[in-house]
Amino acid sequence: MAKRATHTVGLDIGTSRVTCVIGEPCGDGGRIDIVGIGESEARGLRKGVIVKPDLAVETIKRAVEDAERMSGVEAEEVTINLAGAHIMGFNGQAIVAVSGREHEITPDDVRRAIDSACAIQLPAGREIVDRLPQEFIVDEQDGISDPVGMIGARLAVKVHIVTSPVTARQNAINTVNRAHLFVADMLLEQLAAAEACLMEEDKEFGSALVDIGSETTGLVIFQRGAVQHTAVFALGGTHFTNDIAFGLRTPIPEAEKIKRAGGCASSASLRESERGELIEVPSVGGRPPRQLSRQILCDILQPRAEEVLMHVADEIRESGWERQLSSGVILTGGGALLDGMVEVAEQVFDAPVRIGYPERDRFGGLVEDIQSPAYAAAAGLCLVAHRAQTADSRAAAGRRRETGGLTALVSKFRNCFSSIF
Ligand SMILES: Nc1ncnc2c1ncn2[C@@H]1O[C@H](COP(=O)(O)OP(=O)(O)OP(=O)(O)O)[C@@H](O)[C@H]1O
Ligand SMILES: [Mg+2]
Repeated sequence: MAKRATHTVGLDIGTSRVTCVIGEPCGDGGRIDIVGIGESEARGLRKGVIVKPDLAVETIKRAVEDAERMSGVEAEEVTINLAGAHIMGFNGQAIVAVSGREHEITPDDVRRAIDSACAIQLPAGREIVDRLPQEFIVDEQDGISDPVGMIGARLAVKVHIVTSPVTARQNAINTVNRAHLFVADMLLEQLAAAEACLMEEDKEFGSALVDIGSETTGLVIFQRGAVQHTAVFALGGTHFTNDIAFGLRTPIPEAEKIKRAGGCASSASLRESERGELIEVPSVGGRPPRQLSRQILCDILQPRAEEVLMHVADEIRESGWERQLSSGVILTGGGALLDGMVEVAEQVFDAPVRIGYPERDRFGGLVEDIQSPAYAAAAGLCLVAHRAQTADSRAAAGRRRETGGLTALVSKFRNCFSSIF
C-alpha cells in the first residue's frame, strides 16, 4: 500500500462508532479530497472514554483498515478527538510587559502572555489539553487577533483553556499506538465538527455548535471568530434508545432500529397522516410483537429531546452568550439525525437551528459520502490535520512569518482559525 506523507487521517473514536476519514490535498487552497472512509461499531468505550483498551484497539483497526482499503493509502499518523464528559473548558487571562527594543511585540511576548494565562493550579490528575487564544489587548486596544509586530507597553491575552484527566488522554494515545498508529494531534470533538461545518461568519457573528453523540453531547460557542465557551454533557442518543426500550418493553437493539426507522422528536413536525402510522414493536420473553402508532413513539422521544437540549440551553445562558448567537445553533453528531430535532431545538433555544454538514467548499473527492452530521467530527479532524501539515511544510520552507516559532499549541489554534491570523 502507498505511504504518502501528504495524506491526512481523521479518527473520531466515538462511544458507539469509530470513524476514519483519509484526505488528500487537492492543491486548491485549503481543500482536501476525501479518498477513504471507514467505520466500525465501537466497543470498549463509555461516555467517550476508553474503558476496555483491548476492544477499542480492534474497533480502531477495523475502521482504519476500511478507510485504507478504500483509499489504497496506509495510515500512519492520525488526528484524534478529545472526548468525554470529564473534559472541562474555562477562560483565563493575563497581562505581560512588552520588554523588547522599541516595545515591538514578538512571538516570544505572545507565548509568555499565553503561558501566564494558563499558569493555573489544576486539581491533581488534570492537565491542560488545549489553549485557544480568544483575543489580545495591546495597551487599551482590544479585539486583536495577531499582535506580533505591533507596538505597545502591555500585552494582555484572553484564552479558552480545555482540561482533561491525564489518564484519559494517555489511554487514548496508548490505545491508538496499540493499533499501530501514531497520534499527530488531538482536538476537542465539537471543535473538529465546527471546523468541518461552520462558515467563518458563523464564528464571527456568534453561533453554538451542539454535537449530539451516543453518550455525550458537546457544545462550543463562537463569537468574534474565537471559541468563547465549551462544555460536554453525559447525555446523547443512547438515552433516547433506552427510553424506547423501557417505554415499549422491547430489547435495546430493536429500540435502536425503531428510533432510526420511525422516530421523531417533535410531535408538531409529524403530519396528520403520519401520526397514526403503525410500527411493529418486537416484545421480550417470546411474547408476540405489538403494533404502536408513531405518535406514541414521538410522545416518548420528545421529552428526552427537550431535556437534552434544555441542559445545553441552560449552559449557554449561564455562559452569558445567549443573546449573541446571530448565526444560531448548528446540530451535528449522529443524534442530530433524529427527525424533529431541529424543530425541538428551535423551540428550546429560541434561535434559528440547522443541521451541520461537512462544507462542500472544504472537501472534494468522496464528499457526497460524508454528507451527514455524523461525519462532521471525523471530517473536521482530517481537515485540521491537513492545515497543520500545510503550516508545517510552509515553516520548513522558511516561508512562514516570524510567528512560526510559536508553541505547537498556539500554532494549532492558528491552523484551526487560519482566517483570523
Ligand atoms: N438515523 C438516525 N436517527 C436517529 N438517531 C440516530 C440515527 N443515526 C444515528 N443515530 C444516533 O446517533 C448516535 C451516535 O452518534 P455518533 O456516531 O455521533 O456518536 P459517537 O461519536 O459514537 O458517540 P459519542 O460522541 O457520545 O462518544 C447514536 O445514539 C444513534 O442512535
Ligand atoms: Mg462522537
